Amino acid sequence: MPSMRRKCGLNHLRGALVLLLASTKALAQTTTSSATASTAASTTSIYISYSTGTATSETTPTSAPFPPVGSIPRDYSPSGLENIWSLVGTVTAPPFTTTPVPTASVILPSPPPPLYPTWYAPEPSAIFPNYKLPKGFKFGVATAAYQVEGAVKNEGKGPSVWDWASRQPDAIVDNSTADITDLHYFLYKEDAARMAALGVNAHSFSISWARIYPFGAADSPVNQAGLSHYSDVIDYHWSLGIEPVVTLFHWDTPLALVAYYGGFTSSQIVDDFVNYAKTVFQAYNGRVNTWYTFNEPRVYCSELGGYPFNTSFAPGINASTAPYQCYYNLLNAHAGAVKAFRAMGISGEIAFKNDDFVGQPWRANSTEDVEAVERHAAFQIGVFSNPVYTTGDWPEIVKETIPESYLPRFTEQQMQDLLGSADFFAIDSYRSMLIAAPPNGIASCMSNMSDPLWPACNSIEFYDSNAGWALGPSADPQEDSWLEATPQTLRYSLQQLHERWPTNKMYISEFGFAEPYEAERKDMFRITEDSTRTNYYMTYLGEALQSIYEDGIPLMGTFSWSIVDNAEWSSGFSTRFGIQYVNYTTLERTYKRSALALSEFFMAHLQ
Ligand SMILES: *[C@@H]1O[C@H](CO)[C@@H](O)[C@H](O)[C@H]1NC(C)=O
Ligand SMILES: *[C@@H]1O[C@H](CO)[C@@H](O)[C@H](O)[C@H]1NC(C)=O
Ligand SMILES: *[C@@H]1O[C@H](CO)[C@@H](O)[C@H](O)[C@H]1NC(C)=O
Ligand SMILES: *[C@@H]1O[C@H](CO)[C@@H](O)[C@H](O)[C@H]1NC(C)=O
Ligand SMILES: *[C@@H]1O[C@H](CO)[C@@H](O)[C@H](O)[C@H]1NC(C)=O
Ligand SMILES: *[C@@H]1O[C@H](CO)[C@@H](O)[C@H](O)[C@H]1NC(C)=O
Repeated sequence: MPSMRRKCGLNHLRGALVLLLASTKALAQTTTSSATASTAASTTSIYISYSTGTATSETTPTSAPFPPVGSIPRDYSPSGLENIWSLVGTVTAPPFTTTPVPTASVILPSPPPPLYPTWYAPEPSAIFPNYKLPKGFKFGVATAAYQVEGAVKNEGKGPSVWDWASRQPDAIVDNSTADITDLHYFLYKEDAARMAALGVNAHSFSISWARIYPFGAADSPVNQAGLSHYSDVIDYHWSLGIEPVVTLFHWDTPLALVAYYGGFTSSQIVDDFVNYAKTVFQAYNGRVNTWYTFNEPRVYCSELGGYPFNTSFAPGINASTAPYQCYYNLLNAHAGAVKAFRAMGISGEIAFKNDDFVGQPWRANSTEDVEAVERHAAFQIGVFSNPVYTTGDWPEIVKETIPESYLPRFTEQQMQDLLGSADFFAIDSYRSMLIAAPPNGIASCMSNMSDPLWPACNSIEFYDSNAGWALGPSADPQEDSWLEATPQTLRYSLQQLHERWPTNKMYISEFGFAEPYEAERKDMFRITEDSTRTNYYMTYLGEALQSIYEDGIPLMGTFSWSIVDNAEWSSGFSTRFGIQYVNYTTLERTYKRSALALSEFFMAHLQ
């Protein structure tokens, strides 16, 4: 289908990225952490309704070791739930616990002046103005329950593994927890209204499993308050013309299941996940069109082998084997959920969210680098997408590297259930980098399980091998170990994904950028001028238009990560990905330039 292929498509938008980076560097200042909250009274404030308490919760990490798996009895009473919560420790209560009534409409601030002289940065509406997005295209934004909801112990929720992890010493760089974060749990109406004001027509959010089943398990009680909450969230979004896109699992495993049997390192997770999925499908059938079972399974599973998750495994599993056992159990859980989805006749489409990229060889002439790209594709994407989209099985490269004692092999029945268990292809496409073979060669790495690059046996390079130039501007130093803005790779990237795992529909289920040094800026006028992020979005979207029109890629939506700043996993609040600024003292939201640029782009290109 692709009508054209090119390796490194530079276009007129690209120069803007490099030039703008310079403007952000000088702004670094020291942060002061918020102490006490005060009543917000600024013009953009909508209804921040509390005046005491500190929105950002900091924690003194606890270091109590996680109890041995299986040592906590399955007591599904309220005191049993407290017992699980006691593993987490003290939780900061939210400053208010009712959903404030949103104002009738959110007024966008006056449009900012053009970013820079338009000779190198066209206005958003002027980016390929004749390329309109296909009808039904989703102008989406994305969030995840743990990162935005807060209210972690409200309305019957059980603890998740991240509520626990955020309290382990040195696990989160700024010692913050997500106890409150954006308090989206109680502010979802404000958030939806602010999305609608931008013209956003889809919000991809995740449901917290531990809100629906506080103990996670299939034989444990359902929390009606949790089910009702997301029912309101779904209806409220529709009432504003925003389609809810639902992810069942965005890394927040119920902590009880980790305590009972080691979470995703045990095959017991399959039935518990499928049961949870069925409850959610049943509850919201007909009100959700696009579903995801899992978010970025590879990243989640890879975490399990390292601190602080490397203490609670199923019997016989250790830190080296945990990630691969998780791959296997998680895929079987995905297949089981999709099988149930179809058997129950649930309406809509379902898939999971891939992450990462195929990549290109670091040294154009190196056959080992070309082979390394294949390994990268197999280990980063193929490991989940081959079973689901093309073969029903692990990629051959994966099987010939990882022994069965680490990575279980599928049965015939499992392969049948996996193959075809997705209706479209979704990729969290933040970047695409260059791939190099290990210095000691692929063969030597493959045969040595102690090699630091085993089993994938490739490395990611951030600059071109000839001239030493970066592929694009680096993200905030907190995230620059993985993120550069690389719009020039997007078309090739989407072509590769579409060729290797073909479907009739693709989504960029997340993309976004951490503006350099943003968390260190204090003045609102410096914060809202997120020029590197704005250029990231505009250049990516220009490339996306070309993918659709020149390459025939069936792209039907993009989801910006994220509509609000939020708790960025182990980076805590030290890094910001929001297209809106969140003041963690007042919880007030403020649009950044990127939000207005996205709005202008989509208003000009949607039809
Ligand atoms: C986080 O807490 C640990 C242990 O209490 C402390 O050593 C460290 O300095 C804290 N880090 C920050 C960024 O506050
Ligand atoms: C967990 O991983 C960390 C980091 O690799 C390591 O220092 C620690 O010893 C591990 N803990 C256990 C119990 O294996
Ligand atoms: C982990 O388990 C695997 C598979 O059983 C075994 O080969 C390996 O030696 C174990 N690793 C450790 C550190 O015990
Ligand atoms: C090496 O790569 C360069 C640029 O990609 C190309 O011009 C050159 O012909 C290649 N040389 C060989 C020996 O393949
Ligand atoms: C395997 O890799 C480790 C870690 O790099 C290294 O110390 C060891 O010498 C390697 N073994 C072989 C046989 O190459
Ligand atoms: C966040 O709110 C606090 C309390 O009102 C205020 O002092 C601070 O200036 C605000 N931050 C920004 C960037 O406006």
